Amino acid sequence: MSTKNLTTVSVIKADVGSLAGHHIVHPKQLEMARQKLEHSRKDGLLVDFHVTHCGDDLELIMTHRMGENNVKIHELAWTTFKEVTEKVSKPLKLYAAGQDLLSEAFSGNVRGMGPGAAELEFQERASDPVVILLADKTSPGAWNLPLYKIFADPFNTAGLVIDPSLHRGFIFEVLDTHEGLSVRLKCPEELYDILALIGDPNRYVISKIFRNDGLPAAAASTSRLSMIAGRYVGKDDPVCIVRAQSGLPAVGEVLEPFSLSHLVPGWMRGSHHGPLMPVSVSEAQNKGTRFDGPPRVVALGFQISNATLVGPSDLFDDPAFEPARTKASEIAYYMRSHGPFMPHRLGPDEMEYTTLTGVLDKLKDRFQKAE
Ligand code: F6R
Ligand code: MG
Ligand code: MG
Repeated sequence: MSTKNLTTVSVIKADVGSLAGHHIVHPKQLEMARQKLEHSRKDGLLVDFHVTHCGDDLELIMTHRMGENNVKIHELAWTTFKEVTEKVSKPLKLYAAGQDLLSEAFSGNVRGMGPGAAELEFQERASDPVVILLADKTSPGAWNLPLYKIFADPFNTAGLVIDPSLHRGFIFEVLDTHEGLSVRLKCPEELYDILALIGDPNRYVISKIFRNDGLPAAAASTSRLSMIAGRYVGKDDPVCIVRAQSGLPAVGEVLEPFSLSHLVPGWMRGSHHGPLMPVSVSEAQNKGTRFDGPPRVVALGFQISNATLVGPSDLFDDPAFEPARTKASEIAYYMRSHGPFMPHRLGPDEMEYTTLTGVLDKLKDRFQKAE
């Protein structure tokens, strides 16, 4: 437990079953999760919480004083997902009930057990705006490009040029998901080294960002379900916490990279590249129905006040992001027209964890030496 009266924001998520295939959570799942977290708020474990969804992922946004990787907080998230599975998903026969709960019993931390977690502990500033990013139908590397633009690209973040308090730059913690090793690199000094790694988002994933003076600025979930299970179990559908304003990128600079609708891995059967579409939380936008997608991202803005969550504001619910959604749809049409061909279909490294291996195995013995 934290001793310095710091605030921790924990965003823990899982796909524990959904309505009509893989596209949206059921309202009863949200209701049950809210009841469970309300208990813990009354008991004093949580200071505050907000339960929402991004597509078929149930998202628990929690604030508390217990620090990162706290057993009680992780256990609360795990038992919430378990109870939603047992009491709602299974009785309603929702699709893929309990999908992301890969372990039988809780063992101290949800990382490595299926759910995704992003956590950030910090000393609250006089006013602390935070943006919570939630994605569906993609994997953690999807944040690499936007996080780079937010914290390192002066063409995106005007503050890097015109605000002296941002001039000293940021430190990127990059995780090598293949080796389980991480490295901290300084930006702008080591900008090219950072790009050499994070340009391969299937292997290298940004896990944390600090301001040069050590102030925690961002945290992202990094779990790769396929690497935990050794087989395809749905995409990881990552989450990310970004603090904003006064000496950090402004909220508008945090959102700006999502006007690109950049290509990410995921979409149908977790096997296709597609555009990341910025959407509001609303029923109209927050469900992937075209080819089970395309991949999408929701952004919720909060003020953190003595560890309570003031808000949210549904940040992509803005007509200014309509062209990005239209562009994402156009890219979706173009990518879809490639059908089963790469680069719409993912490359062999990523397809290794899908059902494609069964097809390749079937053909293996029919190959003969070429003339
Ligand atoms: C992607 C996703 C879906 C499923 C697809 C097939 O993350 O969850 O695109 O992969 O609907 O699902 P199954 O194999 O369950 O029929
Ligand atoms: Mg699903
Ligand atoms: Mg999902």
